[in-house]
Amino acid sequence: MAVILLTGGAGYVGSHACVALAAAGHSPVLFDDFSNAREDVPDRLARLTGAPVPCYRGDVRDPAALGRVLAAQNPDAVMHFAALKAVGESMDRPLDYMAVNIAGLVTLLGAMEAAGLRRLVYSSSATVYGVPDVTPTPESAPRRAVNPYGFTKIKGEEILEQLAASDPRWAVGVLRYFNPAGAHESAMIGEDPSGRPNNLVPLIARVAAGQLRRLEVFGDDYSTPDGTGVRDYIHVMDLAEGHRLSVERLLAGAPGHVLNLGTGRGHSVLEVLAAYGRAVGRELPYRVVPRRPGDVPVYCADPARAEAELGFRARRDLDEICRSSWAWVRGQAARRA
Ligand SMILES: NC(=O)c1ccc[n+]([C@@H]2O[C@H](COP(=O)([O-])OP(=O)(O)OC[C@H]3O[C@@H](n4cnc5c(N)ncnc54)[C@H](O)[C@@H]3O)[C@@H](O)[C@H]2O)c1
Repeated sequence: MAVILLTGGAGYVGSHACVALAAAGHSPVLFDDFSNAREDVPDRLARLTGAPVPCYRGDVRDPAALGRVLAAQNPDAVMHFAALKAVGESMDRPLDYMAVNIAGLVTLLGAMEAAGLRRLVYSSSATVYGVPDVTPTPESAPRRAVNPYGFTKIKGEEILEQLAASDPRWAVGVLRYFNPAGAHESAMIGEDPSGRPNNLVPLIARVAAGQLRRLEVFGDDYSTPDGTGVRDYIHVMDLAEGHRLSVERLLAGAPGHVLNLGTGRGHSVLEVLAAYGRAVGRELPYRVVPRRPGDVPVYCADPARAEAELGFRARRDLDEICRSSWAWVRGQAARRA
């Protein structure tokens, strides 16, 4: 059983990975600056996992703060979630994205090397494929930056490749997420975007909660069964399991891997809206607006390599994503009331 440091561990994906690691007997440790996480997440995680979860407040651009947590906790591996992640914002503030996502990664790698620690699981994204030529998209598809956020994720992957090529003691798991959605079944942790959400499921959740009048559907004349865009939605607890399998492979001495984490199955915007409506118990309103530039009709993972290398397979379906999201959103509203 291993001690795993989770940078950005109080955030959406990191907090769910924390639960999956603890359930498998590992000891997660959080490092987060709480710029996009609620202060009570470590307490919630302690209640959920039944044990205190050590949490260090710090910035991944701060080598001294990283050095302190590495010295105090002596982890066996790191999962690096801490990053800025909003595509639109990255076009307004590209340098902030480069500072946190690229310089933050380099600072973390330096602190790890100084501590003699060379096992890392890296949060990458399907965004690295840009507008893919092939779907389902395999890991061999070319990387193309179509916005500053995607650029930072590609640079992160390249930095890790160069590092591993220069020193074989580095073992890196690069995980390219498709569309993480849903929440832990306890409804104690979930996605909690500040401001207007960027992703479809939290947007629909706002409609369901009455905070948005209706969902805007960007285009219904794509070459898909109902004309709306089709994407691969992966339940965040399946994603969390993928992280656990990835780090366990590295801890077992595997050299590293680059893997898509998705289901391989797409759902249209209207299918997701209907599934969320089933979870809520009523139909949710929408209106069709023009297509967004750059959107592709269908974008799904080819999940074969993750299954072959990790035995990973997403088990939870779209209804479970919507049910768990709605339970989390309702619970949050009740706690705030
Ligand atoms: N959620 C998605 O749709 C998605 C898809 C693909 C890839 N990713 C990647 O997965 C990772 C986690 O995403 P998430 O959805 O959990 O995001 P999130 O914002 O919920 O979590 C990121 C966490 O990092 C922390 N953080 C941000 N900047 C920091 C800094 N400078 N120092 C220390 N902590 C910092 C935030 O407070 C937050 O808790 C990110 O690297 C993101 O790019 C996310």
